[in-house]
Amino acid sequence: DAYETILVERKGRTALLTLNRPKALNALNLQLMNEVVAAAEALDRDPEVGCVVITGSAKAFAAGADIKEMRPRSYMDMYLEDWFAAWDRLGRVRTPTVAAVAGYALGGGCELAMLCDILIAADTAVFGQPEIKLGVIPGIGGSQRLTRAVGKAKAMELCLTGRTMDAAEAERAGLVSRIVPADDLLAEALAVADTVAGMSAPVAMMAKEAVNRSFETTLAEGVHFERRLFHAVFATADQKEGMSAFVDKRPPEFTHR
Ligand code: HXC
Repeated sequence: DAYETILVERKGRTALLTLNRPKALNALNLQLMNEVVAAAEALDRDPEVGCVVITGSAKAFAAGADIKEMRPRSYMDMYLEDWFAAWDRLGRVRTPTVAAVAGYALGGGCELAMLCDILIAADTAVFGQPEIKLGVIPGIGGSQRLTRAVGKAKAMELCLTGRTMDAAEAERAGLVSRIVPADDLLAEALAVADTVAGMSAPVAMMAKEAVNRSFETTLAEGVHFERRLFHAVFATADQKEGMSAFVDKRPPEFTHR
């Protein structure tokens, strides 16, 4: 766990992963990418972790992929090293993830936030895909996930002009689930994460899987997939515990089995 560009802390069943390259506004270089992905996968394997919060600093969640690192590279470098492909592994983590975004979430920073399951913004947050201003396009899924989140109209404008959105516009457009005052961001995000982490872990994983399937399939297939998972949760001890606790008028004690 000797990470240099991130900090990882455990707070009960919630884990907090803080991007920590403040001098570069948390620009996502290769080392940071590999550390975030390795840490997230390690936390995903840990049965004591029920939710992961990813955050940055007050000024920047992340100001994008590292421009200085990318600048000299050729097509062959990018293709053969399959540049940015490791980020896909973050999207395959089964444990729910929360992005707590203050300040700049630009380019790869916006894409990283969109790779998370719940996106909570401080009122200082700024979102955008300004790659076009550098003569490139998004490379960590921005053209796809932003379009699914906010629709073609805004996604196209942001990707073609590089214009950014403030937190209020991002919330109106459906990119973030809510906005909180910057000073409360971490506490609110951790509270949301603690709520999720208090649920049955396998059931939360299935809920996440079901929602994510909606982006990959037709409505009929998605509903079918949901129905199969819904039937499957009746194989868990936590279903019996959750429903028994309701009937007994007491809080459930999930065993995450
Ligand atoms: C490398 C970066 C960086 C980045 C900031 N820095 N963003 N370094 N990659 N993406 C560095 C600056 O070079 C500077 O280093 C230090 O962080 C502080 O940044 P400043 O620009 O001085 O801060 P400020 O004036 O407050 O402006 C903040 C900012 C600006 C508006 C966020 O930094 C900015 O526009 N950054 C780039 C945003 C961007 O284009 N992101 C998309 C990247 S492309 P020094 O050494 O000078 O102190 C991307 C693509 C993914 O993500 C796929 C494409 C292939």
